[in-house]
Amino acid sequence: MRCRGFLFGVMVTILTLPALAADRIQLSVDASKPGPKIDRNIFGHFAENLGHGLYEGIWVGPGSSIPNTRGIRNDVVAALRELNVPNVRWPGGCFADQYHWRKGIGPRDKRPATVNSAWGDVIDTNAFGTDEFMDFIQQIGSTPYVSINVGSGTPEEAGEWLEYMTAAAPTALAKERAANGHPEPYKVGFLGIGNESWDCGGAMTPDYYVSLMKVYSRFVLNMNPAQRDKDKMLKIAVGPGTPNTEWTEAVMQAWKKHTWAWDINGVSLHWYTVPNGWPPSTASEKFGLDDYDKTLKSTLFMDEFLRKQEAVMDKYDPEKKVTLSVDEWGAWHAPLPGSNPAFLVQQNSIRDAILASLNLNIFARHADRVRMANIAQMINVLQAMILTDKEKFVLTPTYYVFKMYVPFQDATFIPVTFDAGSYTHGGISLPRIDAIAARSTDGKLLLEITNLDAENPASIDTDLSGITAKSATAETLTAPNVDSINTFESPDVVVPKSAAVNIHDGKLSLTVEPRSVTVIAIEQ
Ligand code: AHR
Repeated sequence: MRCRGFLFGVMVTILTLPALAADRIQLSVDASKPGPKIDRNIFGHFAENLGHGLYEGIWVGPGSSIPNTRGIRNDVVAALRELNVPNVRWPGGCFADQYHWRKGIGPRDKRPATVNSAWGDVIDTNAFGTDEFMDFIQQIGSTPYVSINVGSGTPEEAGEWLEYMTAAAPTALAKERAANGHPEPYKVGFLGIGNESWDCGGAMTPDYYVSLMKVYSRFVLNMNPAQRDKDKMLKIAVGPGTPNTEWTEAVMQAWKKHTWAWDINGVSLHWYTVPNGWPPSTASEKFGLDDYDKTLKSTLFMDEFLRKQEAVMDKYDPEKKVTLSVDEWGAWHAPLPGSNPAFLVQQNSIRDAILASLNLNIFARHADRVRMANIAQMINVLQAMILTDKEKFVLTPTYYVFKMYVPFQDATFIPVTFDAGSYTHGGISLPRIDAIAARSTDGKLLLEITNLDAENPASIDTDLSGITAKSATAETLTAPNVDSINTFESPDVVVPKSAAVNIHDGKLSLTVEPRSVTVIAIEQ
C-alpha cells in the first residue's frame, strides 16, 4: 500500500514497508571519505570472432535487408550507444592468437576465406576486419582494445598491424589504409599482448611468455601522432585464469625491472562464473532456485581472486601504477540445446543481471587497482548484452544493468558500510544485499543496492550524514522468477522500472524487491 507526499518541494513516495523493523538493513554512506575513481573502462566489452558475436550480431553486410550502416546493424549500434561503451576488446580471445590481420583488409570480395579453428572450424570470410571493426567502434562511440597475435604470429606482423592502424602517411601501410578508405590514423586505446598464453594462446610457461611480452612491448608501436603525448595506448600483458599467483609473479617481477626499452601498463585476469566447474553445465533458462543460489555464490569468488592477485601486484608496485584488467568475466552456462556448442550460445536471465551487478560492485570496491574489465561477450555469445536471430533483436537483463550503471562511469567511489545479514536456502548462504555508493561526474550521490534474496524484499534505511539530500530518483530491475528472460516474442519481461524512495531526517529509505538491482540518484 502506498501514499504520496511532498518533501523538500519535490514529490516523494512514502512507503508502508512490508518487512519488520528488526529486518531492516541499515546502510551508512560516508561522503566525507571519497575513494578512487571508478574508471569507466571497467564497463568495457569483449567481442570475439566467435559464433554469431561478430557475424550476424554486428556485421550483416551492406547488402543485407537488415537495416545497417556500411554493413553494421543499426539496431545494435543504437542500443550500444546508450551504454556509453568505453572500450571493446577484439578480435579475441583464443581467436586472437591465430588471427592474421592482413586477411581482413582491402576489398571484401578479394579477402581469403579461412577456417576459424578456435571456434568450431567454421569458414571465416574475413569480411569483418580491421576497418570494419574501427567503423563499428566509431559508430558506437567507443575505444578499440586490440589483442595482438603472440601465439602463432610474430612481432613484425603485429608491429605492421599497429602501423596500418595508427601511422600517418607517408608510410606505405598508412597509404594502404588510406587506399582502403581511411586516410586518418585510428586511435588504439589498448593493446592486449596475447591472450591466455598459458592455454589456448600457446600453452607457454610464465618465463617464456615474459620474454615474448618484452619483445612485443618493445616493437609493437602506436604511431598515431595524436597519441604521442596524451591518450597514450596502454599495453596489457596476459595474466592468470586461476587464483594461482605464479603467472602474476613472473609478469610483475619483470615489470619491476623494466628498462626504457619496454613497459606494460596492465596485467589481465580472466575469470568466469562456472558454478559446477568445467565443462559449464548450468542451464541458462528454465532453472530453479538451487541453480540461482549456486551461481551467485560462485560469482562472489571474484573478490577473493582479485585480492590474491593484488597482493602480488602490491608487492612489486605499491603505487598501483599497473592496472589489473579483468578483460574476460561473466557467466558461462551450458550451450543452449540445439545450438552449435562451439558458438557458446546461452540465454540471459535476471540471475545473470544480478551476477553482473555483483561483479561490477566488486570491481568498484577494487577501483584503485582494477581500472579495466570486459564482460564476455557483447552479442550472442556467453553473457551477452544483445541477442539476435536474423532481423530479430532483444536486449538482455545484463544489458539493462550496464545501462543503469552508466552514471557510475568515472564516478568517485564513496564508502558504504552495512550488515547485509544472510539469506540461506538449500544449504547455501548468501548476503541478503550488496551495495556501493559513488559521486557521479555531475555531482549526484549514487547508491546501488542488489537484493540477492530470491524470495524476500529488503527494507533499507540509509544514513546520509554529511549530505543534504534534496530529492532522489530510483530505477530497479527485477523479474517474476529467478529464471525470467527476455525473448524476441516477449522482450519486456525484465526491464527497469522506477522505484519509490523516501528521504526524511537525513535518511533515505526504500524497499527493494526480491532478486533485484536498484540504482538511486540523489540530488544535493
Ligand atoms: O570467451 C570465450 C573464451 O574464453 C576466450 O576466447 C578465451 O580467452 C577464454 O578461455
